[in-house]
Amino acid sequence: MATRLITGANRGLGYEFVRQYAESGDQIYAFCRDLSNSKELVHLENKFKDISVHEVDVSDFEAINRLGVELAEIPIDTLINNAGVFGPKPSAEGDFRQSFGQLDYDLWQEILLVNTISPVKMVECFLPNIKLGSKKQIINMTSQIGSFAEGAQGLLAYSTSKTALNRGMVNLASILAEEDISVHLINPGWVKTDMGGSTAPLEVDQAVSKVISLIDSLDMSNTGLFHDYDGRVIPW
Ligand SMILES: NC(=O)c1ccc[n+]([C@@H]2O[C@H](COP(=O)([O-])OP(=O)(O)OC[C@H]3O[C@@H](n4cnc5c(N)ncnc54)[C@H](OP(=O)(O)O)[C@@H]3O)[C@@H](O)[C@H]2O)c1
Repeated sequence: MATRLITGANRGLGYEFVRQYAESGDQIYAFCRDLSNSKELVHLENKFKDISVHEVDVSDFEAINRLGVELAEIPIDTLINNAGVFGPKPSAEGDFRQSFGQLDYDLWQEILLVNTISPVKMVECFLPNIKLGSKKQIINMTSQIGSFAEGAQGLLAYSTSKTALNRGMVNLASILAEEDISVHLINPGWVKTDMGGSTAPLEVDQAVSKVISLIDSLDMSNTGLFHDYDGRVIPW
């Protein structure tokens, strides 16, 4: 049995991580912003005794600190920074606030806060718990769009937030290596969630099952790398 802390656990990939890890008998700390929005997570919490749900907005650092105190001394094997925001989609919604020429700078800062800065805050806050764990893994859900080599143009707010997340976590991989804590960046693929949309090629259960297999193979030997869900290393 391993212990996993997962953010953005009420829907999409985060919910599916909770479901699959709980099915395999793991202890889960499921962080979500508003549990009343997710009958599914409430149902899982009732079904599995080893799921502990905690409400937190990951952009509220005082709230993260309070949970750090509440969960002090609990070993965490794997921290999964999954919560994320995409922002408006110019094609589907005709909303160009993350396109150059019509940029909404407040929105860009909000996206950077949730996608880039808050994952680092989560690591800082829960580092004592990760040190107590046996796997000592930090996993970040990033995106291929954050890659200079493979990312498409456009989506200024979302793409820069993921590129900066990658850079920040490479820094942490280097800093935390001396503690034997590994740090990883994973692109889950293009997945049918609220974010990925209905035309995405991957089903949520399929994508998460591949990412979980990948996580099983991650340790200090591949810390600081950016992996695709199928295990391929994505160039920066
Ligand atoms: N789906 C894809 O194709 C795809 C591709 C590449 C990368 N990713 C990455 O994978 C991760 C999960 O994506 P997804 O497709 O599951 O997205 P999703 O369906 O839109 O779900 C996003 C999750 O993040 C949570 N969240 C957003 N802002 C938050 C905040 N301030 N505090 C706490 N929770 C917050 C949401 O909670 P609420 O319900 O409260 O909003 C929700 O649980 C994201 O980091 C995303 O960038 C997804």
